Formats: sequence, C-alpha cells, structure tokens
Amino acid sequence: MAFMTRRTLIGAGLSVAALGAVGYGLWPRMDGYREEVERQRRLLGNDPDLKELVRMATLAANGHNTQPWKFRLAEDSVTILPDLTRRTEIVDPDDHHLFVSLGCAAENLVIAAAAQGRAADIAIGTGAEAQIEIALSPSAAAQGPLYEAIPFRQSTRSVYDGQSVSTEDLRLLENAAREDGVNLMLFTERSDLDAILDFVIAGNSAQVDDPAFVQELEDWIRFSPFRAVETGDGLFAACSGNPVVPDFIGSRLFRSFFTKDAENEKYRSHVDSSAGIAVFVGDRDDPAHWIRVGRSFERFSLQATALGIRNAHLNMPVEVLSVRPAFADWLGIPGARPNLVIRFGRAPALPMSLRRPVEAVLV
Ligand SMILES: Cc1cc2nc3c(=O)[nH]c(=O)nc-3n(C[C@H](O)[C@H](O)[C@H](O)COP(=O)(O)O)c2cc1C
Repeated sequence: MAFMTRRTLIGAGLSVAALGAVGYGLWPRMDGYREEVERQRRLLGNDPDLKELVRMATLAANGHNTQPWKFRLAEDSVTILPDLTRRTEIVDPDDHHLFVSLGCAAENLVIAAAAQGRAADIAIGTGAEAQIEIALSPSAAAQGPLYEAIPFRQSTRSVYDGQSVSTEDLRLLENAAREDGVNLMLFTERSDLDAILDFVIAGNSAQVDDPAFVQELEDWIRFSPFRAVETGDGLFAACSGNPVVPDFIGSRLFRSFFTKDAENEKYRSHVDSSAGIAVFVGDRDDPAHWIRVGRSFERFSLQATALGIRNAHLNMPVEVLSVRPAFADWLGIPGARPNLVIRFGRAPALPMSLRRPVEAVLV
C-alpha cells in the first residue's frame, strides 16, 4: 500500500464528512501500542523462569504474525507444538511456513536459554505432527550479540539505502546461518537481483490475482493500533510502513490500494534498493528440514540485526506453485524446493510488531 494522504483517502471513496467524523482526537494514536512494544521487548531479567524463555521465543519471525505455536513446559524442558488453528491455508497449504516459524521460535529459545546458563538439546519429534523437544541443562552463561538482538529483530518492509554490505559482514551472515541440512545461497550481483525480481513479480502477480490470497492477507492485517494491541497478532499496518487508520476505513483503503501494479512497483523498489538476497534451501522437503531452515534463518536475521542490517521476506517465488520450479531451475537446483527468499540492506527501523501474551500460548 502506498503512502496515503488526505487527498488519496478521499480518492478511495471516503467523503470529507466521513474523514471529519474521525478527525483529530478520534484518529488512532500510537501511545498505547508503543507502551505494549516496550513491555514485550525486553531482554531477560535475573533468574528468569521458563515462561520468560517462551516470551523470548515468541519474538521470533513467523508467517503473517499468526504465531502458530504452542509451548508445553516441564521441569527442564520445553516442547514447541504447531497450533493448527493458526494455519494460513491459502498462502501456505502444506504448513511449510508454519514449521519454519516453529524453527525460528526454537532458535530464539535456544539462544535465550544459553544466555542465562542453560544448554539446549533439540530433538524433532515425529508423531502425527512434528514437534520440537528442547531439553535444558546447566552450562556457562553465553550472552552474545545474537541474544542481544532478539528484542530488536524485525521484518523491515521498506526501501533500503542501496548501499552494499561488506564482504566481512556477508561472511558473518553466512556463518550465523550455518546449519546441517540447510544451504544458504547469497546473491549480491545486480544481474542476479534483477533475475530474482522477475520471479518475485511473477509470483506476486499470481497472488494479487487470487481473491482467496487477498482475503486471507486482509484477515491478518491490523489497520489500527487499537486492534493490533487487542489481538496481539497479525500484520499491523505501521510495521509495513503504512499509515494507521480506523478499522472501519482500513478494509476499504486496502481494497483500493492493494493492486497488482502498485505492489509490483513496490517490490521493484525494494529489490533495487537492497544490498543482496539470501535464498535458504533445505536438503529435504519435510517438516524436520523446514524447522532447520527456520533456525538457520532466525540466526541470519539476528546476526543481521546485530550488524545494523535489515531484512524482509520476498517469498512469492517459493509460495506460488506455478513459479517455484522455474525458480529452482534458475538457482541450479532443479527439482528441489527453495524455502525462503530474503532481501537485506540498511534502512531505519519501522515500528516493532506485537505478540500475544505468554499465557495464551502455553498448553
Ligand atoms: C516462514 C515465514 C514466511 C514469511 N513470509 C513473509 C512474506 O511473504 N512477506 C512478508 O512481508 N513477511 C513475511 N514473513 C515475515 C512475517 O510477516 C513477520 O515475521 C511477522 O509479521 C512478525 O514480524 P517481525 O518479523 O517484524 O517480528 C515471513 C516470516 C516467516 C517466518
């Protein structure tokens, strides 16, 4: 969605009278939202309990911010289970993103546990549904830059500054993402970014043309800070660089501004201004490897945050079935499934996203 002025709001079919009715004083304010962000995004205090580790886990990246996870706590272990009531069946019909998201949460938990002197041993259980079992045992406390980055990591969906990232920083990103069973492909040549952009635009065009995709996306957008705080989930407009509006206006505006051309132009500017694109590819196409991809990506993202480098997803080429095989061919991995497409570069931070309370994700 492009930036909306009063004139464009009126252009979207909203009368001056309607805008006047939500004039100064009734227009949504960000104060309560900011307070909630500050409350949620803290490092651990002294002697934190397992619920505090869960809070750190839930600050992880996750598709559409549905937070599709449940946590079962025991004396010295945490199990992360999928919450299938929070599936996004249109964009993610086989729950690939859902399990990647669980891997992201597991990685945050492991890093936070290490920071408070608990080593984590991870096993991926293969019952009816894959789940992640994390056994904790005493160890020396290890607080590194990835731990300190947890409250500040975000998906930054804005135009970046167009500058390149140093070779040294690229190596640090590669090292952070290293994970058995996962390959990271880094692209920084303009010609490669242009080629990837073509796949992004092909995928995005197919998605915007699909009414079910658009409806599912809209269902997870939170147009006002009030609604974002109330639900504690979803895609808050300000986190994508869009203005906040009252909820009753949001849907109408979204339908006016969310067009194929506008979205494709936005993604063109996003790729053009990025320093590079990272593609994550698991060795196999199963939930255990999707979880590994999530762990690898979360470390990449935290390392980027620690270096002042932003990142955002451009997953259309891996989400749209009619585009994915050609994208895999272009990557030189015919028949394989590329899992995530991530752009990176430098830009100011956008507002941070919210999470549901820890109590809401415990079973
Ligand atoms: C598996 C996965 C898929 C995602 N896909 C997209 C995507 O296609 N487009 C996008 O803008 N963000 C995508 N995201 C980012 C999430 O929307 C984001 O993590 C979530 O809204 C929480 O915000 P945060 O990352 O700023 O904490 C994805 C994240 C994950 C883990």
